[in-house]
Amino acid sequence: MNVDRAASRYASQGRMALGFARGKMRGDPVYAAVLARLPSAGRLLDVGCGEGYMLALAAERGRALELVGLDHDEARVHRARLALADRARLTTEDARTADLPSADAVACLDVLHYQPADQQDALVARLAAALRPGGQLFVRDAAADAGWRSTLTRWSESFAVAVGRHRGDGVFLRGRSELPAVMAARGLRVETVDCREGTPFANLLHVGRAP
Ligand SMILES: C[S@@+](CC[C@H](N)C(=O)[O-])C[C@H]1O[C@@H](n2cnc3c(N)ncnc32)[C@H](O)[C@@H]1O
Repeated sequence: MNVDRAASRYASQGRMALGFARGKMRGDPVYAAVLARLPSAGRLLDVGCGEGYMLALAAERGRALELVGLDHDEARVHRARLALADRARLTTEDARTADLPSADAVACLDVLHYQPADQQDALVARLAAALRPGGQLFVRDAAADAGWRSTLTRWSESFAVAVGRHRGDGVFLRGRSELPAVMAARGLRVETVDCREGTPFANLLHVGRAP
């Protein structure tokens, strides 16, 4: 994983943006976990892509992987475009209503918990429907039943919503087995791994593979 090269895409946005991109890419284990499982070709769709860190890291894998991202936060999409204009197709859209293109890999990292459970379930169904045969869905989110880690995650995410850093109706964490069950109900074979190394959060990565 070439963090320095991927993060350098953010250098034109200033030292803070560069430093934040580098720190997030290095410090959050989700990116390496997804990269290790990505196909080398086909299309990666990043739903709720934010500033595009996952896409920037995937871009370092070569040009055979087509990169598509969407997010409903216009400012974040703007920052992602500045970094990835040459490499990714990025749109400002709400994942709950967007027309999702088909993909070999769909990432939805730290996005679901900003919507209530019924909307999460509907969105997971839409993400699963976007998968091409044999495609993989990567859902990373925090568990509601991981003790103090869940409390800390809920607190820090609620603060981020309260101060307007993230849009949302609140923070809606699910039990460890809930999202895998929703994915399995959509026909995916699901594996769940802890994805919080080096952080205090309650994060899990659910990987679902389409038949
Ligand atoms: C914590 S950030 C994670 C960004 C990115 N996935 C990453 O891991 O670097 C959550 C992102 O999800 C986006 N988001 C939340 N709900 C969304 C929705 N319904 N449609 C599109 N984007 C959404 C937010 O705007 C924000 O950029």
